[in-house]
Amino acid sequence: MNFSLTEEEKSIQDWARKLSQEIVAPLAVRHSQQKLSTDYLKTISSQGLMTLLVPEAMGGMGLSAVSFALVMKEISKVCGSTGVSLAVSNMIADILVREGSPYQQEKFLQPLIRGETLTASFCLTENSSGSDASALKSRAVKKGKGYELSGEKIYVTNGAFSQFFVVMARTSDEPGSKGVSAFLISRDSKGVTMGKEEDKMGLTGSSTIRMSFENVFVPEENRIGAEGDGFKIAMRALDGGRISVSSQALGIAEASLEFGVRYAKEREAFGKPIADFQAIQWKIADSATLLAAAELLVLQAAYLKDHQKPLTLAASQAKVFATEAAIRVCDEMIQVLGGYGYIREYPVERFYRDVRVTALYEGTSEIQRKVIARELLK
Ligand code: CAA
Repeated sequence: MNFSLTEEEKSIQDWARKLSQEIVAPLAVRHSQQKLSTDYLKTISSQGLMTLLVPEAMGGMGLSAVSFALVMKEISKVCGSTGVSLAVSNMIADILVREGSPYQQEKFLQPLIRGETLTASFCLTENSSGSDASALKSRAVKKGKGYELSGEKIYVTNGAFSQFFVVMARTSDEPGSKGVSAFLISRDSKGVTMGKEEDKMGLTGSSTIRMSFENVFVPEENRIGAEGDGFKIAMRALDGGRISVSSQALGIAEASLEFGVRYAKEREAFGKPIADFQAIQWKIADSATLLAAAELLVLQAAYLKDHQKPLTLAASQAKVFATEAAIRVCDEMIQVLGGYGYIREYPVERFYRDVRVTALYEGTSEIQRKVIARELLK
């Protein structure tokens, strides 16, 4: 067992830190108030950040899952909204690498690699099917050499920026997960309507929209995998996505902890820095310990992904532990700052709002626990 990063992983981590400071940090405050701009996304994409896991032979960055987790953490430490935008685009790119046909890789993945397409999105959740994902109602009916797809999707991350979408829809009357297929749909397809942008608690820079599809013609060659494979494609993608979200949570919480530590050394009360009080020291000690433990779980899940080992259990364990730890750390740092922690002048307030969703999207904490129990009891 080796607990140190390889030289290559260290240099990728350094690269991500430098990039975060040069490109992400100058706009982080702006992106806590308004959406990521097209120009900014172009810059991000030109650095290869949207296709980090795509093999170099295909034109991507060819990072391992471990290196990807390190990059996700560094970027999210500076801007959580950029973090989630990368997380979802990379998840779609990863689906296309692992499950896409050569045609789909050429038509959808290559433009994402070249930066002609800025981001991509994942359309699984519907109004009445969130945690119970296989209860989705969108339907794709066979029509000529393709399908006509109709339905409504919500919580589409990157929706406003994306040129294409991976959409899960039913292709048969088989119950639950069995009748679900996955399709690639371009934004400009007839019948695609971009809906309302959600007004969220945090991650203001990221786009989260509703979408509707009305008799959208989807050629057969845009179906990923076979008919009925869609649910498993989505679940395999979420196994990887859950590692990204865990890394995002770690990054945000680490930023909060670093700010809290600096503040505790500077702020005085009762004639000495508050860092001298045991009450503050324990908050800092517990927070750092939680994040260190969480990081081990995240890197373990990423390691399993790199070695093509089963990762469902480890990814869900990493997600539930890392996101709940991160939320607790961000909450504790507000306590360290006292009243200043609650006002917008200080970033810990934003970190708390940004981190909260990590225990909700890509499967709530309750769903992660269900997955962990299912894996242990099966
Ligand atoms: N990998 C491969 N196959 C998997 C799998 C995985 N991780 N998980 C399940 N499967 C397979 C099962 O083996 C089973 O296969 P068989 O039918 O051949 O036996 C099939 O899929 C169905 O599995 P379950 O019976 O366990 O399915 P279920 O209906 O009980 O649901 C669930 C399981 C874990 C609750 C699942 O619905 C789930 O993960 N829900 C949460 C959904 C979610 O994370 N949504 C987030 C959407 S994305 C988002 O947040 C927005 C964003 O863009 C950031």
